[in-house]
Amino acid sequence: MPRVFSGIQPTGDVHLGNWIGAISRWAADQEDGHVFCIVDLHAITIPKDPEHLRTKTRDLAAWILAAGLDPEVATLFVQSHVREHSELAWVLSCSTQMGELNRMVQFKEKSAGKESVSAGLFTYPVLQAADILLYQADEVPVGEDQRQHIELTRDVAQRFNGRFGDTFTLPKATMPRAGARVMDLQQPANKMSKSAESDAGTIMLDETEKKTAKKVMRAVTDSGSEVRAGEDKPGVTNLLDLLSAVTGREIPDLEADFEGKMYGDFKKAVAEGVNEFLRPARERHAELSKDPAELDRLLAIGADRARNIAETTMDTVRDRVGFLPPA
Ligand code: TYM
Repeated sequence: MPRVFSGIQPTGDVHLGNWIGAISRWAADQEDGHVFCIVDLHAITIPKDPEHLRTKTRDLAAWILAAGLDPEVATLFVQSHVREHSELAWVLSCSTQMGELNRMVQFKEKSAGKESVSAGLFTYPVLQAADILLYQADEVPVGEDQRQHIELTRDVAQRFNGRFGDTFTLPKATMPRAGARVMDLQQPANKMSKSAESDAGTIMLDETEKKTAKKVMRAVTDSGSEVRAGEDKPGVTNLLDLLSAVTGREIPDLEADFEGKMYGDFKKAVAEGVNEFLRPARERHAELSKDPAELDRLLAIGADRARNIAETTMDTVRDRVGFLPPA
């Protein structure tokens, strides 16, 4: 059975891209031994208000559980609760080339136009590699934007294994059938993102159904009136991809359904499909948020389970690199 690991940053609010690209799949495919992490150490690579970070960390746990993740089956924990992440990140940074990090698209995007950029933002992918390798993950369910980081993780693991002997499993990224790259509804050339300038093109999990429907109805469509996917139709293609992701149906079937119909009918179906898909989680999230102490309790259990695995890997790493064990 493949070991699965994935993570998400507690920054901003959860959007439909996170949901389809990652969280909902974690829950749908969960099995014993799967591990999921709220990566608060990654979140501070860009300055955060401490109280806001704490609130968002707990809120994100509520969303992941609302997706249906069962803490008796899979492990859910907060990255800073398991110290081994930081320790392994340091060790791996000594097996990572500056040139490799310089090529990371996410770093280029996040640092573009900024006057001051933290060293943490630059070494961010090394910490991500540490997350994955600590748990000897075979598979990492993520959206398309994370593919490059998982490839770097493989390269770093391979280099470490070559130098110190077989230590780490080489992971591979797994993508959803549809929705690996959910695009902004207003700017379909850009991915849907927490950091978009306006939220008009981003569907938030914590907004009302009415608001979601309004955003979908106002989504940018393309010239012509045909509901079909294609490079010349980025807006419609994105909506078709969304409808496919939320209904589980294939794009050619959906195109056939809307033959001869107007964009308005199509958008209405997308709005309803998305709201139906999110409804159970939205309701459950409201319930779970009423009991923060219970969320903290579940995260503490998750951290204990994660630590057990992480400590075993880290013991091997310390030995391999030649650290003198404490007497
Ligand atoms: P983050 O927090 O930006 O996003 C969490 C997950 O959501 C996916 N995602 C999307 N999928 C489809 N369409 C979109 N528009 C979209 N936007 C986001 C992301 O691909 C991701 O799967 N570096 C990671 C967090 C991380 C991690 C890890 C992931 C840290 N350590 C170890 C996997 C394994 C990040 O910033 O994701």
